[in-house]
Amino acid sequence: MAGQAAEDDAGFEQSLRPRRLAEYIGQGKVKDQLSLAVEAARTRGETLDHVLLYGPPGLGKTTLAGIIAAELGVAFQSTAGPLLQIKGDLTAILTNVQARQVLFFDEVHRLQPQLEEVLYSALEDYRLDIIIGQGPAARTHTLELKPFTFVAATTRAGLVSAPLRSRFGLILRLEFYQPAELEIILRRSAQILGVPLDPDGGAVLARRCRGTPRIANRLLRRVRDFAQVRAQGKITAAVAEEALALLEVDEYGFDEADRRLMLALIEKFEGGPVGVNTLAAVLAEEPDAIEEIYEPYLMQIGFLSRTPRGRVATALAYRHFRVALPARGDQAGLFTP
Ligand code: ADE
Repeated sequence: MAGQAAEDDAGFEQSLRPRRLAEYIGQGKVKDQLSLAVEAARTRGETLDHVLLYGPPGLGKTTLAGIIAAELGVAFQSTAGPLLQIKGDLTAILTNVQARQVLFFDEVHRLQPQLEEVLYSALEDYRLDIIIGQGPAARTHTLELKPFTFVAATTRAGLVSAPLRSRFGLILRLEFYQPAELEIILRRSAQILGVPLDPDGGAVLARRCRGTPRIANRLLRRVRDFAQVRAQGKITAAVAEEALALLEVDEYGFDEADRRLMLALIEKFEGGPVGVNTLAAVLAEEPDAIEEIYEPYLMQIGFLSRTPRGRVATALAYRHFRVALPARGDQAGLFTP
């Protein structure tokens, strides 16, 4: 179960998004920093500094961007790095911004380099240099832009170039959620959807969603279907367990894709180290998907380690998949946490 939103889940996800900081559960440090900066900007009547949000998919970066605009009481406009193809696309957006509004770019690491360069002066001093004509007759025309807050999100902070990163006043990392936080999020979602969710049922889902609210909410929807058809509509612990077994989500929240990745690493590459491109080829997956979607959680729970020589399965992973550990010395890369 990847963190990426599937098409049919998009509207559902939208309806569950908290709109204000007070409704947003977890991410305490991020919330503290944001509420302080927002309050300071509001009291001074200034534009909030640019904000970079990074972390694995599904943790609430887009939601937070919307909340920042709501807390500032300004307009919100959103796009994504890969959607902008030519300079004109970016110029059109920048010349239309309203004073102090939030301009949100998702997947900012996928913005084309020549567009990123246009962005530098826009972020630095709200100016846009436009070159008119070609060759000796070319002239540069500078457009003044309204001051705005650029909020950017990325799953790959390491791919954001240093010059772009240096333009953000706030750089905030979102973390995986604790089960207790996910229980609160699930309770709220169940209330909005009108689904009867037992506290024990909520606890089961909270432990099986890989620390990710988007996955928690998606599991809630799937388990609701199961409860409606096979039980009396109520999601109890037993109903949740049964539904998750049917969905092939195990006690760590792993689904087929996670298991395939870990088993390939353990069985085909003797636990590693193996390069991400080789692993991706064997799994017929994109290396980016492995790095952005699957690996962060596997690393967080100590199943997989990234070493300079490649990916390595840990002793914990061997135990979970009930594969005997290779004898010491046989397997150079094995990492014991
Ligand atoms: N839904 C998704 N993420 C959430 C969060 N952090 N708080 C409340 N509801 C959410």
